[in-house]
Amino acid sequence: MRKIFPVSLYNPISVAGALLAGISFGLIIFLMIIETFSAVHKPYMGIIAFVILPIFLITGLVIIAYGWYREHKRSKQIDFKARKFPKIDLNDPKQMSVAVFFSVGTIFLLLFSAFGSFKAYEYTDSDEFCGTVCHTVMEPEYTAYLNSPHSKVGCVKCHIGEGAGWFVRAKISGSYQLYSVTFNKYSRPIPTPIENLRPAQETCEQCHWPKHFFSEKKVHLDYYLADSANTKSSLTLLMRVGGGNHELGNTNGIHWHMNIANDIYYTATDDTRQTINWVKSVNKESGKETIYTLKGANKKVSEKSAEIRKMDCIDCHNRPAHIYNEPSRTVNISMSIGRVAPDLPYIKSISVQALDGKYETKDEAQKKISSFITSFYKNNYPEIAKLKAKEINTAIKEVQKIYSRNYFPEMRVSWKHYPNHLGHMNYDGCFRCHDGNHVSEDGKVITNDCNSCHVLLAQDTPKGGKQVNLDGVEFSHPGEIEVSFKTQKCSACHGVGNKTLEKKVAQR
Ligand code: HEC
Ligand code: HEC
Ligand code: HEC
Ligand code: HEC
Ligand code: HEC
Ligand code: HEC
Repeated sequence: MRKIFPVSLYNPISVAGALLAGISFGLIIFLMIIETFSAVHKPYMGIIAFVILPIFLITGLVIIAYGWYREHKRSKQIDFKARKFPKIDLNDPKQMSVAVFFSVGTIFLLLFSAFGSFKAYEYTDSDEFCGTVCHTVMEPEYTAYLNSPHSKVGCVKCHIGEGAGWFVRAKISGSYQLYSVTFNKYSRPIPTPIENLRPAQETCEQCHWPKHFFSEKKVHLDYYLADSANTKSSLTLLMRVGGGNHELGNTNGIHWHMNIANDIYYTATDDTRQTINWVKSVNKESGKETIYTLKGANKKVSEKSAEIRKMDCIDCHNRPAHIYNEPSRTVNISMSIGRVAPDLPYIKSISVQALDGKYETKDEAQKKISSFITSFYKNNYPEIAKLKAKEINTAIKEVQKIYSRNYFPEMRVSWKHYPNHLGHMNYDGCFRCHDGNHVSEDGKVITNDCNSCHVLLAQDTPKGGKQVNLDGVEFSHPGEIEVSFKTQKCSACHGVGNKTLEKKVAQR
């Protein structure tokens, strides 16, 4: 048989290396072809094709070279001490063909590895990689992201910056994350606020120009109480988002006060920034500073304290992509569009209880939600359980769906674990400062007027009927409870771990 390659390459080690490299190369090409032609992208395809197989390919090549070198040395064809480099004679047709083969091979391999490393880089930046490779760990964030207004904005757009610095930082922290996932060392849930989140100027503000004016946004909410009739009421809010550039026209609203006209600084006493004890607003035009402190809090905050944070988008919009909804809100929505039939007695209360139950795994939750709701009707309303079996089933399916979008027991993730700053019902959010208790030296209070952030355009309750007023109606708290908004925050009863609401509801 005519041998194309130097004899020293035909040794068992090099042949084994060649086999390894050849098979890996073939597989990579095969997977790339499959990936190009398949409609559904598989998360592991990329990691195998662009990360694992190339490692085998390179190992194969190294083994070939090692086998060759060993063979050379053994056959003592070359006296290594006398002659460091092999003598190449391109007039010898055999040597010529070997040289051509190796040069072409090298160029091809370099091109291929450049393409491969680009693909590997691209792949490790993809939503697929961030969101699905570590299954359980990223499942909550990925699921919530897919259901968010930002589901078409890649993870990296918000979490990883451009340029070499961010690339290195992201891949180093990524490698640590891979390690902590492999060895089960990550915390559940993942703690927030994220320490090194990219600054809002580099993320949000690239797409949402801060001075862009948003007109008022109408928010309509239907509520169902936890009584047997699921008593309905509704509320229409006009959110005064605003913003703007006063050279171009209208300016007002939340964004105007909070982002454009003023710079706001604050310190919090806890890691999750729930209790804010010191606030400074600097009017950008006049330079006037106003310092507000929480009544009864220790007033000594040094102006140079490292804890002082400048307020930006994330201090209100901290859940733009990963929203874990509170159950009352989602069940209200499902009831208002008829997916959970409002004529089933106590269905609101039962659904919320089923969602907030204690479960260890998703499967357990799905089973128990079904048995909880079914047995409630069987035991308390046997007639209805028979007559409305279909509605009850539809409701169960809907509640199970709500669960799978908002609760992740394996990672201990739900609305209870991540505060949402946009609003003030379940977490203090805006009321962290706008609670009427943050006062300046000269007696100025950060407003808690119900019509300063939104106008309560209309409210429809069984006791008060339909009230409409373009300047804002007075809020009538749903249900029988008398609530003093001057002394109690909504979260005192509607917040996490507060039993008042559950007790009040249970007493009925
Ligand atoms: C629109 C911007 C945006 C996009 C897109 C986005 N995130 Fe986030 N992410 C955030 C913000 C803001 C936080 C909360 C930061 C805080 O509270 O400190 C966050 C928090 C997280 C957290 C911490 C745990 C938590 O739930 O708060 C993880 C993990 C995470 N994101 C992963 C992802 C993954 C994976 C993707 C893509 C599938 C993604 N993110 C897409 C903005 C984004
Ligand atoms: C790559 C572009 C991009 C980035 C970065 C981005 N967004 Fe968005 N954002 C969008 C798009 C697109 C929409 C949907 C537009 C629409 O519905 O009008 C949107 C919608 C929103 C909405 C309206 C949500 C709703 O309920 O309708 C808010 C609030 C928002 N973004 C805040 C943020 C914040 C805060 C950040 C930074 C953490 C951010 N965005 C980063 C593109 C982006
Ligand atoms: C003081 C709190 C606060 C800050 C700071 C803030 N926002 Fe908002 N923003 C709001 C509120 C409240 C709404 C209305 C949300 C709603 O009702 O859905 C809103 C609405 C929006 C919307 C949706 C507008 C629409 O018509 O749907 C976008 C986009 C947005 N904000 C982007 C940003 C960006 C980008 C920043 C940072 C430059 C920012 N916001 C800073 C409170 C804030
Ligand atoms: C860290 C504290 C802080 C938080 C949190 C905060 N604000 Fe403010 N807000 C202020 C301060 C301080 C001012 C007063 C600025 C000044 O001195 O005029 C203000 C003013 C405003 C104003 C103008 C009120 C007026 O007098 O007409 C609006 C509207 C507003 N905030 C909306 C919001 C909304 C909506 C949220 C929650 C999404 C929020 N703020 C969260 C500190 C805060
Ligand atoms: C500092 C600004 C601010 C003040 C002051 C304020 N709100 Fe709100 N309110 C908000 C924001 C922001 C939301 C969230 C809107 C959304 O979910 O889109 C909200 C939502 C609500 C909701 C709907 C809650 C839900 O999730 O169903 C009600 C009801 C409400 N506010 C009532 C009030 C009442 C009553 C007062 C006066 C005691 C008040 N608000 C004062 C900013 C404010
Ligand atoms: C003293 C405790 C308490 C306080 C404070 C309180 N609530 Fe409630 N709230 C209740 C109870 C109890 C119910 C009845 C729950 C039910 O029947 O489902 C309720 C029901 C509601 C509902 C309708 C139920 C639903 O579907 O979510 C809304 C809306 C509401 N409250 C808004 C507010 C707002 C906004 C604030 C703050 C301005 C507030 N509440 C403060 C106790 C309270």
